[in-house]
Amino acid sequence: MKFKILIVDDNKLNLKMIEDFIFSLDHSPLLACNGAKAFEEVKKQQVDLILLDIEMPVMNGIELLRQLKRDKSYSQIPVIMLTALDDVKSAVESIKLGAEDYLTKPLNFTLLENRIKGVLEKRKAIVKAQRLGQYTIEGIIGEGGMSQVYKANHIMMCRPAAVKVLKPERTDQNSFTLFEREVKITSLLSHPNTIVVYDYGSSSDGSFYYVMEYLPGVNLKELVETWGTLNEERVIHIITQACGSLGEAHQKGLLHRDVKPANIMLCERGGIYDFVKVLDFGIGVFRDEPEKNLSDKNRQYIIGTPGFLSPEAIQGSDRMDVSSDIYSLGAVAYYLLTGKRIFEEKSLQKLLLCHIQENPPPLSSICHHLSPDLEIVIMSCLEKEKSKRPQSAEKLRDMLLKCQRAGKWRQSGAEKQWKKIMEESKISPVKEKRSTIIKALNINLEKKFSDPQDIAEEKTAKLIQQNE
Ligand SMILES: Nc1ncnc2c1ncn2[C@@H]1O[C@H](COP(=O)(O)OP(=O)(O)O)[C@@H](O)[C@H]1O
Ligand SMILES: [Mg+2]
Repeated sequence: MKFKILIVDDNKLNLKMIEDFIFSLDHSPLLACNGAKAFEEVKKQQVDLILLDIEMPVMNGIELLRQLKRDKSYSQIPVIMLTALDDVKSAVESIKLGAEDYLTKPLNFTLLENRIKGVLEKRKAIVKAQRLGQYTIEGIIGEGGMSQVYKANHIMMCRPAAVKVLKPERTDQNSFTLFEREVKITSLLSHPNTIVVYDYGSSSDGSFYYVMEYLPGVNLKELVETWGTLNEERVIHIITQACGSLGEAHQKGLLHRDVKPANIMLCERGGIYDFVKVLDFGIGVFRDEPEKNLSDKNRQYIIGTPGFLSPEAIQGSDRMDVSSDIYSLGAVAYYLLTGKRIFEEKSLQKLLLCHIQENPPPLSSICHHLSPDLEIVIMSCLEKEKSKRPQSAEKLRDMLLKCQRAGKWRQSGAEKQWKKIMEESKISPVKEKRSTIIKALNINLEKKFSDPQDIAEEKTAKLIQQNE
């Protein structure tokens, strides 16, 4: 494995000597003449090891080391200090700050080779764990019932991407079939408001993954939880875009079947904010061949997420059609305006019964200033009888666009929020092997989901046994 080794020294002769030596070890040397230049280099590309002189102008080695260790994006890069023979104090300080090792000058190259080998051996394991095919994993950006989603970079093209990996406890045949189907289905769609899939594969440790465009932004659940409910013009702006994505899928004979806030992202695309992307066609199905690939056992399950399930989805997934996605999209609009699900029932059984029997509280009983035209459109999506709902995503889009507040949403209205979203990157860096992170994440999940609504919605998410 070839590694990038950054040599930082203000002495040109030293730089040249070490550079030649690194070439002779068949690694790629990078050069910097002081700490500040080195930091620029580290920000530009992934560096595997830093050989760091201490006494330098502009920014010395100790200061650079301090800055690197403070920043979680770089704190994992191993550093070997190169110190003058009489500067033992600095060497000790650097070890305290987190340097791997130190060597005194003039350099003994046999010793240097051994130190480099030792450090890179450990690095190899980390880099391997952080790589999936042609992608280097940077950190976790999301998780659902089935999978974890990581931010990644293509090794050659340096293009950001999102990699969705099937959770280790979901490696049974059915989960795998669903996952594979999700990739195939999504690849057939090309609407701008639908997530774009780039690639699919499996890694040497047996994880299945697919690669998609990286969306800088938040899903609608996070949006409402963090910033509260949205005004009606923004809701119209968002839901009409989601209609575009679903409209194409429906025209191709495909149902999404898990339309909910966590599966719709609001992101920045080409400088446009509040751009909607519909994700997670994981339980999507072609209307004409329902559940063809799933086992008999899976056909007995209710498909979808309880808070956003249509009545017919509960009565049997084969009764679902285009208007079932419309029902769920109506429930999403309701959530965006009120911050509430159409039924807030905690018991799963009662919640499912509500979807079948009860009428949701009228929107205007919660949002007192809501325009009546928008209320009528959204409540019509939530009709029990399929024929009373808008009959297609295009129809719903047209109805929304005729509302008084349609076309009134301006990006500038959300500018502050977007600045914050972009600043507060959700990515937590990959510090350890992926399997350790996955374990830690699962423990967090156990703790986090104590509310039955949450358990129903996020953890068990997609397949819920009918008699539960
Ligand atoms: N391409 C992406 N870019 C950025 N974040 C993403 C992307 N895809 C998914 N996410 C985040 O990860 C979460 C889970 O993704 P999702 O595809 O819904 O997984 P699951 O099938 O496990 O529910 C999403 O709610 C979203 O926050
Ligand atoms: Mg999801």
